[in-house]
Amino acid sequence: MLTVKQLPDLHGKKVYVRVDFNVPHKGDVISDDNRIRAAIPTIKALLEKGARVLLMSHLGKVDWKKLKKGEKTQEEIDAQMKKNCLSIAVEPLKKHISEAMGKDVKVSFCKERGPELKEAVEALQDGEILLAQNTRYQPGEEKNDPELAKEWASLVDAYVMDAFGSAHRAHASTVGVPEILKAEGKPVFLGYLMIKEVENLTRCVEVKPEDRPYVAILGGLKVSDKIKVINALIDKCDYIIIGGAMSYTFKKARGEEIGGSFLDEASLDYAKGCLEKAGDKIVLPVDSVITDSFEPVEGRKIQVAKAIPEGFQGVDIGPESEKLFASVIAKAKMVFWNGPMGVFEQEEFQSGTKAVCEAIKDLDGKAFTVCGGGDSAAAIKQFGYKENFSHVSTGGGASLEMIENDGHLPGVDVLR
Ligand code: 3PG
Repeated sequence: MLTVKQLPDLHGKKVYVRVDFNVPHKGDVISDDNRIRAAIPTIKALLEKGARVLLMSHLGKVDWKKLKKGEKTQEEIDAQMKKNCLSIAVEPLKKHISEAMGKDVKVSFCKERGPELKEAVEALQDGEILLAQNTRYQPGEEKNDPELAKEWASLVDAYVMDAFGSAHRAHASTVGVPEILKAEGKPVFLGYLMIKEVENLTRCVEVKPEDRPYVAILGGLKVSDKIKVINALIDKCDYIIIGGAMSYTFKKARGEEIGGSFLDEASLDYAKGCLEKAGDKIVLPVDSVITDSFEPVEGRKIQVAKAIPEGFQGVDIGPESEKLFASVIAKAKMVFWNGPMGVFEQEEFQSGTKAVCEAIKDLDGKAFTVCGGGDSAAAIKQFGYKENFSHVSTGGGASLEMIENDGHLPGVDVLR
């Protein structure tokens, strides 16, 4: 596989760079530009080689079925799209990219598709950047529509994949375009962000003896969302710590009282099967922080309990569980973490997630530690533990799928 480390001279060449700028935002304000900053080394490397860079990304999700209900004009659809998913745009993204690149680099934005986009790409000069409209503004993107992929591929001379967060999506922008360019004999490369992600996550997939004990820590809401990754981790890990809302389904499967805690009923039998198969490998909370109101209303009851009575629900692991989880983490030579231990968005229920962060900090760099993105990455950033991890992934879904599929991702496999 070619990587950006092997870039040829690119003067006069137009290069399509798939980035993942699906950043958290409220309106036009981007609250975390980590994904933008993480893609900058690749963009800089391309500009140093004289390339004309076309940046392509999605932002947000689009429900086309809902959007197309009834006869609507393109303007009405656009207005609706803007409401659902901010146009990749414009001042916020452009501003972040410009700041990261320095004032000498020209960054422009093309909000149109079709001939206007082609014109804007043709107008690019060496060392300039053009940010294209949100890829999901075209219904063919998520269907990997061959016509759309052909149209995008026709704009450029080379392709660079640097969107790890989207590498598990077989869309036109991540799979269709490189497939066509490869078939035409044009070069396709893996970017710096991708190299780092693939190297670090491959270590969590192809486990070496010196990386044992290997401890996985899983949290999140539904067991059903993580069935495939739990299966893969049971085979790969020495311990699987399960916290967060999904631990209550496992506790119920073990016959414990969970009161009104979240129960993923459809996964109950699966959870029983896992407990039988994995035995002592699976480590569950032994106590919980419980409350009678999820909403932060005045006077709500918050206490610690082993069995959760009716009228209460578990919202964080308890202090005994914190100690238990820390004692398992202390044995680790490798850790993969995905999903917070409790409702860390509320201050009262942050303790369990912070305790896991502390336990990882206490490993003091003596273990290889990976945070698999998503909510856990947001939590470690919020609590100031980012530097204590060997690697913090920019892709929650992608890192899980890479583990589930034994290191394979469509957006990477297509480049092989
Ligand atoms: C993410 O944020 O996980 C990636 O950008 C992928 O987004 P998606 O789940 O909307 O495909």
